[in-house]
Amino acid sequence: MTRLAGKRALITGAARGIGLAFARAYRAEGAAVTIADIDLPRAQDAAAGIGAQAVHLDVCDPASIEAGMDDAIAAMGGIDIVINNAALFTAAPITEITRADYDRVFAVNVAGTLFTLQAAAKRMIAQDTGGKIINMASQAGRRGEALVAVYCASKAAVISLTQSAGLDLIRHGINVNAIAPGVVDGEHWDGVDAFFARYEGKAPGQKKREVGEAVPYGRMGRAEDLTGMAVFLASSEADYIVAQTYNVDGGNWMS
Ligand SMILES: NC(=O)c1ccc[n+]([C@@H]2O[C@H](COP(=O)([O-])OP(=O)(O)OC[C@H]3O[C@@H](n4cnc5c(N)ncnc54)[C@H](O)[C@@H]3O)[C@@H](O)[C@H]2O)c1
Repeated sequence: MTRLAGKRALITGAARGIGLAFARAYRAEGAAVTIADIDLPRAQDAAAGIGAQAVHLDVCDPASIEAGMDDAIAAMGGIDIVINNAALFTAAPITEITRADYDRVFAVNVAGTLFTLQAAAKRMIAQDTGGKIINMASQAGRRGEALVAVYCASKAAVISLTQSAGLDLIRHGINVNAIAPGVVDGEHWDGVDAFFARYEGKAPGQKKREVGEAVPYGRMGRAEDLTGMAVFLASSEADYIVAQTYNVDGGNWMS
């Protein structure tokens, strides 16, 4: 299939998990892909397996965003699609949240998304070819959760940034939209499970089982469940879609 033939995409945090599934799907649809991750060795391994390229990019560091994006553009000849996918998870009761943890998570999930989006938009405007920017939100951004205040707030901010950036950038032909996954199995959720084991006294793997059973579809999500939406939002079929956040979560949230 070639719904993204000739397009050039950069995906942050794509050395593993959902971002890597997006990279694979975009390659299958004919796009050139840059995996932009803070973990360069893993990004290089992942890229080699799918005919993509890898760059080091730390979304918390303005110089690294600029350099990583320029390296990607030099290799691909331009940029048409960016997915702001890199993120960190954290959990703690309200009384135990530390400022350091809050700063760390907001630096990646919120500032990282905004300033990577900004760097991409400047380059897309200079190219004068429009573009597609996709932010990774979460069902966590739709409502608060006991123990998950900081991550939930960071993803609510991503939904809001998607709205503001979407409204501002559409006059340049740049569509900004977001995807809100539910619970997606993988290394990320292994970490989430460990937090719940610690704070709710659950056995390892128990929280994962519980959240999977609670999904109306009947199981946890897989990274591949999200690729259809990521391809669609990056394609010309989504030209008239502006500032939206789409739930792809097996029915967990309705809005
Ligand atoms: N897995 C889920 O259940 C789930 C649910 C809802 C939303 N999401 C969102 O989907 C996205 C992908 O999730 P995932 O499960 O694949 O996550 P993951 O933790 O498996 O992968 C995150 C990637 O981001 C990279 N990264 C971390 N900090 C970075 C930085 N400063 N700069 C660049 N890269 C950095 C990591 O090296 C890693 O490759 C995230 O935005 C996440 O919040 C995931």
